[in-house]
Amino acid sequence: MTHATITSSPADPTQRLAPGNHASAFSASAGQNAESPLRSRQTTPLEDAIASGGSFETDTHAELAAEPAVCEVSNFNLYYAEKQALWDVNMKFAHGKVTALIGPSGCGKSTLLRSINRLNDLIDTVRIEGNMFLNGDPIYARNVDVIELRKRMGMVFQKSNPFPMSIFENVVFSLRIDGERNRTTLEEACERSLNGAALWNEVKDRLHESALGLSGGQQQRLCIARAIAAEPEVLLMDEPCSALDPIATGKIEELIAELRGHYTVIIVTHNMQQATRCSDYTGFMYLGRLVEYGPTATIFQMPHLKETEDYVTGRFG
Ligand SMILES: Nc1ncnc2c1ncn2[C@@H]1O[C@H](COP(=O)(O)OP(=O)(O)OP(=O)(O)O)[C@@H](O)[C@H]1O
Ligand SMILES: [Mg+2]
Repeated sequence: MTHATITSSPADPTQRLAPGNHASAFSASAGQNAESPLRSRQTTPLEDAIASGGSFETDTHAELAAEPAVCEVSNFNLYYAEKQALWDVNMKFAHGKVTALIGPSGCGKSTLLRSINRLNDLIDTVRIEGNMFLNGDPIYARNVDVIELRKRMGMVFQKSNPFPMSIFENVVFSLRIDGERNRTTLEEACERSLNGAALWNEVKDRLHESALGLSGGQQQRLCIARAIAAEPEVLLMDEPCSALDPIATGKIEELIAELRGHYTVIIVTHNMQQATRCSDYTGFMYLGRLVEYGPTATIFQMPHLKETEDYVTGRFG
């Protein structure tokens, strides 16, 4: 199969449109393909090439080359039955940094995140090509013990999912599974993790009450505490604030910023402010491809590609 190599002209910051003055970017003609999420803006040649299955290379910024990787994604394709959802994704996630994945709904952010801890294995129709590596260990190999692999990663979902047990038992759950019985060890892990999740002060006097009595924002921080109690090599978060009010969201964002350096975090978000506030690197995805990937400040202020600029400035998606 031959693929056209498509390049997109770099966004010229000197010609950038002021917010609200998108007259030329928003042409009257609709997008040229049915699958495109674009509505009121003409698609670019790069977007058309992607939509028609042409190959292209991710614009990965040079800064990433110097970063040690916790997790690497190599030539990764994923299919739900016949439908391809991820296309030749190559990226590495920097150790001790927060990486945000952004892009229009349905572009494959959750699929990519769930592929890292092999949650997609639970879907019968899923088929993958390529590989991923966690600190150098192949994530997709015949002899991988998936349960052991998942223990090395923490996952926080859109909707908090505390277990129907006490706050304390929620936090130390992974230690219990590993057979830890020493009370002091469990108590220390509980306090350390709740402190790490900025929840200790709010719950220290009610550790043995049901976790289900906590507020939504507290429950989400509890889930983060539970995830970090296992000392994961990477923490995966899929829109962890989408069900929270602005105050609870602010607390989680502060927490993610504090986790920086101690933990590697990969966070999917639709909230552009959130990505700019809490992440070091941002990857922009579109129709199953990683389009541009670089330092968050550059992606939002001076991206290389017009498509990225249009997305982060709200012109489509
Ligand atoms: N279990 C599934 N079975 C079949 N197709 C799926 C499944 N899960 C996701 N898809 C499809 O894969 C594509 C990517 O979906 P995914 O959920 O990864 O997108 P997303 O970027 O996380 O979107 P959103 O921002 O809406 O959460 C979509 O076209 C979606 O319909
Ligand atoms: Mg999603």
